Amino acid sequence: MKVLGIESSCDETGVAIYDDEKGLLCNQLYSQIKLHAEYGGVVPELASRDHIRMAVRLVKAALKEADCTKDDIDAVAYTAGPGLIGALMVGATVARTIAYAWNKPAVPVNHMEGHMLAPMLEENKPEFPFLALLVSGGHTMIIDVAAPGQYRIIGQSVDDAAGEAFDKTAKLLGIAYPGGPLLSALAQKGVKDRFVFPRPMYNSPNLDFSFSGLKTFAANTIAEHNTCEQDRADIARAFEDAVVDILKIKVKKALKQTGYRRLVIAGGVSANRTLRSEMEKMMQNLKGEVFYPRISFCTDNGAMIAYAGMFRFKQGARSGLEIKVTPRWPL
Ligand code: KG4
Ligand code: ZN
Repeated sequence: MKVLGIESSCDETGVAIYDDEKGLLCNQLYSQIKLHAEYGGVVPELASRDHIRMAVRLVKAALKEADCTKDDIDAVAYTAGPGLIGALMVGATVARTIAYAWNKPAVPVNHMEGHMLAPMLEENKPEFPFLALLVSGGHTMIIDVAAPGQYRIIGQSVDDAAGEAFDKTAKLLGIAYPGGPLLSALAQKGVKDRFVFPRPMYNSPNLDFSFSGLKTFAANTIAEHNTCEQDRADIARAFEDAVVDILKIKVKKALKQTGYRRLVIAGGVSANRTLRSEMEKMMQNLKGEVFYPRISFCTDNGAMIAYAGMFRFKQGARSGLEIKVTPRWPL
């Protein structure tokens, strides 16, 4: 069976086809980063318009890349939430309309489930149960994944998401949107421990996070020390080390609580090299294993929606004829 998946929750338009026997057949992605860069963040109205411009041509390109026709497709899946309402509406409208025209079912997909299942597209994929750390621009969550579709959020950010903290701190350092990856590159040149950022909620008994204080700490440090390139690199390094350290502390606690030895890390921030290597070291010490998507599937893409769409399609999820999205949709 083949599912066509459409992603349009934020600033990436993605279309892919997943075959439950052959795996991923194609992956088309268009990023709007350049469009939003001059505004310092995603402008929702511009995002919606650009999804409209790109969605149908990416569907055509995906069919061509996979050497498929509409008759080969069994269902059309799309991100129904969480995300920007206008952007979601575009993907939902395109998917629902195509499904209607092709006389196929349409399947709504939760974007965060898409991120969480993205490692299933890799050769080295986790078995259930596992612990998942979802770190994106909009969410930071620790999830107990007991079985396919059985998710329990056991920790989350009480304010900014990890990716959001990266982007806001990057902005303070004068790095263009989305600053996360560039801040991380700058941190590579930084001197360890020249500055030490706080570890918010490090001692709290629960598995929740707080990242907004780091941004304030960064602002104060920048005001005092931002005189040369090395200062900026040292501040970036201290910030990244603090975020990675907090994520490690909480994940270690969660592994202890659940008894799991398999860890999935997904979402945009899972592309972070320091996070990956530190988590790998930690899991080696704990005699466990860490799984993540390939770097290009850490950030938003259609492949993860096609995969999660296949899972939900087989479970019987269907959307009615109305165009409906869920901008706030808990996992
Ligand atoms: O998952 P994603 O593409 O979109 C959401 O669902 O939010 O995540 C985007 C976030 C942005 O905040 C971006 O700065 C961050 O992921 N990000 C990174 C890295 N690559 C992407 N943050 C830190 N280091 C990276 N290498
Ligand atoms: Zn995402």
